[in-house]
Amino acid sequence: MVLFTDPELTEIAPGAVLIRNAIGDLDEQLLREVSHLAAVAPFRRVITPTGKAMSVEMTNCGAVGWISDRSGYRYEEDDPISGQSWPSMPDVFCNTATQLAARAGYPAYSPDTCLINKYSVGSKMGMHQDRDERDFRQPIVSVSLGLPIMFKFGGTSRTGPSVKVRLTHGDVIVFGGVSRLAFHGVGTLRAGSHPLTGACRYNLTFRVAR
Ligand code: SIN
Ligand code: FE2
Repeated sequence: MVLFTDPELTEIAPGAVLIRNAIGDLDEQLLREVSHLAAVAPFRRVITPTGKAMSVEMTNCGAVGWISDRSGYRYEEDDPISGQSWPSMPDVFCNTATQLAARAGYPAYSPDTCLINKYSVGSKMGMHQDRDERDFRQPIVSVSLGLPIMFKFGGTSRTGPSVKVRLTHGDVIVFGGVSRLAFHGVGTLRAGSHPLTGACRYNLTFRVAR
């Protein structure tokens, strides 16, 4: 079985896999694509349904993009800022996500969206489930770039015990199967400087949304 022959791979929960240093020298190419995408669909702080601005800035690429506002969380085909389609997903994003999913034991993964999170000093993300997608049989592939952060991965209740993993540049989490709806979140980004991202951390979250 793939899980026990790949030394950089750890199962942090059933169906949830951490792959350390999984990106290799694709990091610069992925980050270049992030800046191209952000030039078209800028990073923004979305408002939650309760009216609070999230501390993380977000943008999307792909056929749909995840948004939040007073009316709730959902996927939309158009960027509400421009009224235009989200920029299409770069090939290197899609190919990387497919390979990572396969490495984690999820073959034939074909994401239709990537949510890009940008963390600055003080940004954090509370425990939540990724549950706005239609097909929970498809895993989430989550790529960390830049400064490190503490990732928390729990179970199916928000307040239950969680595994804590410090994610560094190039680490990847793939979660699916019985962990697909697990609560997860990240701690506060601490000040620092990364050679490729400066004072920031980026997270690419691939999903099959539709
Ligand atoms: C998320 O769950 O959307 C973000 C997780 C992360 O930033 O690592
Ligand atoms: Fe999430």
